Amino acid sequence: MKRILMIEISPRGQDSASRAVAGALVARLKKLYPSAQLIRHDLAAEHLPHLDGTTLRAIATRDPAEADALKAAARLSDQLTDELLETDLLVIATPMWNFGIPSALKAWIDLIVRPGRTFQYTAGGVLGLAKDKKALLVLASGGVFTDGPWRSWDFVEPYLRQILGFIGITDMQTVRVEGMNIPDLAVSAVPRAIEAVGELVL
Ligand SMILES: Cc1cc2nc3c(=O)[nH]c(=O)nc-3n(C[C@H](O)[C@H](O)[C@H](O)COP(=O)(O)O)c2cc1C
Repeated sequence: MKRILMIEISPRGQDSASRAVAGALVARLKKLYPSAQLIRHDLAAEHLPHLDGTTLRAIATRDPAEADALKAAARLSDQLTDELLETDLLVIATPMWNFGIPSALKAWIDLIVRPGRTFQYTAGGVLGLAKDKKALLVLASGGVFTDGPWRSWDFVEPYLRQILGFIGITDMQTVRVEGMNIPDLAVSAVPRAIEAVGELVL
């Protein structure tokens, strides 16, 4: 394991369940892989832009002259995509917001899912180009979604598995921090998730 890329999203700082569990995960990773390079993005602080028209043109054009002229507009997407392609392990720690991912995480995804860089359409179908990577998802939610009546409301894990799979990342493990809005479950949700971190195959 040479490079770890970690994306954190919650703006709740010390109160964040996903960050608390991700912290335990990073501590374990650092012990296991002391020489690995860790790149962290705190999307609550970084405020990634939504794709605008110029950026879309800059990353989609096949005309070398136009690509050169629009180089600056593609820079952030290029940098984030390079980081992802160079990493061995992607860690995403995110809350569920309104049954899906926060828009800050969607902004990152929109910047790294790129034709010709992280995926490619071929005669045989879609080819993910982000090869030989693992992903760990730390997913915090107020309710419980792994089982029970709310299961079909989970648009976080199915979406992340699908979109990361689309770009070639299929080796994925998930740690759920569930029931943060249910007092009886909330008291033990973070410790239980930290225990689950200890059992991950890293
Ligand atoms: C804006 C917002 C929307 C939320 N939407 C949901 C939701 O749809 N379903 C749910 O189970 N919990 C929801 N929650 C609760 C969070 O998922 C829960 O508090 C979780 O612990 C947040 O992660 P964090 O502690 O890392 O910030 C929402 C919280 C906020 C602030």
